[in-house]
Amino acid sequence: MGDLLFRLLATSCLLIAANLASAESLSASAKVDAAGDEGRISRHLYGHFAEHLGRCIYDGIWVGQDSSIPNTRGMRNDVVQALKDLSIPNLRWPGGCFADDYHWRDGIGPKGERPKRINMHWGQVIDTNAFGTHEFMDLCEQIGADAYLAGNVGSGTPQEMRDWIEYLTFDGDSELANERRKNGRDKPWKVPFFGVGNENWGCGGNMRPEFYADLYRQYATFCRSWSGNRMTLVACGPNGLDANWSKVMADRVGRGMRAMSLHYYTVYPSWRDKTPATGFGEDEWAAILSESLRMEEAIGNVEKEFDRVDPNKRIDIYVDEWGAWYAGEPGTPGYALYQQNSLRDALLAAQTLHIFHEHNERVTMANIAQVVNVLQAMILTEGDKMLLTPSYHLFEMYKVHHDATRLPLQLDSPEYEHGDREMPALSVSASRDSEGVVHVSISNVHPREAVELECEIEGLADGAKVTGRVLTAEELDAHNTFDEPENVKPSAFDGASLDGDELKATIPPRSVVVLRLAP
Ligand code: AHR
Repeated sequence: MGDLLFRLLATSCLLIAANLASAESLSASAKVDAAGDEGRISRHLYGHFAEHLGRCIYDGIWVGQDSSIPNTRGMRNDVVQALKDLSIPNLRWPGGCFADDYHWRDGIGPKGERPKRINMHWGQVIDTNAFGTHEFMDLCEQIGADAYLAGNVGSGTPQEMRDWIEYLTFDGDSELANERRKNGRDKPWKVPFFGVGNENWGCGGNMRPEFYADLYRQYATFCRSWSGNRMTLVACGPNGLDANWSKVMADRVGRGMRAMSLHYYTVYPSWRDKTPATGFGEDEWAAILSESLRMEEAIGNVEKEFDRVDPNKRIDIYVDEWGAWYAGEPGTPGYALYQQNSLRDALLAAQTLHIFHEHNERVTMANIAQVVNVLQAMILTEGDKMLLTPSYHLFEMYKVHHDATRLPLQLDSPEYEHGDREMPALSVSASRDSEGVVHVSISNVHPREAVELECEIEGLADGAKVTGRVLTAEELDAHNTFDEPENVKPSAFDGASLDGDELKATIPPRSVVVLRLAP
């Protein structure tokens, strides 16, 4: 009897202790200077990428004029509208690996006469070239995005590259400009960004950095800005954390380049054995979200080399491929890189975009991979159906940061620990837009605990009020399906209050909150 009583008492004490522990939520503090100025958050950090890969271009964007899916000159209307709503600043095309095996002449002229080619990197499927230069530039005009073309260094020539640029952008009476006119486009297009190759350390030619540095100098010599087009050339940059590529490029090209790319994908546990996009537990939640923070290290490696040769920070970093790369969805071909997209990916994007904001002195462009049906996509399609992913909603909520001024911010966040993973629970960024409206975006990666945030905001306009939106869900792998396309979407947030310069907010577990502070 005595023993039973003792065990009952011990169990009650444990239960009370557990309840007390969960009632005690986590707390964080921050300070924001609403009148400060840490430079512009370029809208181009919110760029996208469309490659001839799987169902990104064909099916996802291009269905052709004769399709029963409503389209404008072959481009699906539902996808175009969704991309317009996202105000996407720039779109990179045609690859990726595809770019260094792409010959632009295959994609111009009457469609029936365009050659069929093997897509050698992505499943060796046949590309009809129905989607080529004119179609891509039309897509950019339909969605209101700047064009970012990737040229072919790996299997092309400097002449092929310079001719493409002349065909696209020259306004005078040259043979190439007249050929463009004959193919239906009178006025030249603007091409503000042009990549001199892609991943030339790998699928773009397996080159050593010393060799590529020389090729870059050669190709760049012939890539001219014609007829008022002001084109930024983008040199190929490193693979993830590889610091040597940046060192060699800094030493051998240095201020001879205006921008260099950087590719960093979040992959776990390894490239050979990737975790799935959904159906995961807390181990994979913590692993993916902490691995994605290594973007900081990848950017830091490039900055270190650039700071040596370019202390005035003239050379920019374009992170023109990033995002989560999971195992392909069961039943889809591996080469198509088709994956679902969950709440976890929205949090990954929030943290990564905050890192880009922090590095805005050099990081002025980024392109998440890829825009439709491939990797961390904004949009998934199936026949005539389309859904918006949690990553899409995150990008839509973050439009408020486009071209806004980054505000000075100090944050003291509790840690989220799981197994051998440890990371700050909160990631926060703040900006002021051209109307003076302040936005604070906050992600909480803790899967179970809310965080009470107390934030002092100096310099707010008199009479400012706080409103907000939140993206969250019950399940760690919550996602949208064609049957339930609105499972994860933003809703109004009422967990914040503002009293003078004291902002208080309860940030729910596994959520992203965007607060708006204005009279
Ligand atoms: O985005 C998919 C592929 O990833 C791209 O083609 C290539 O550049 C990178 O390795």
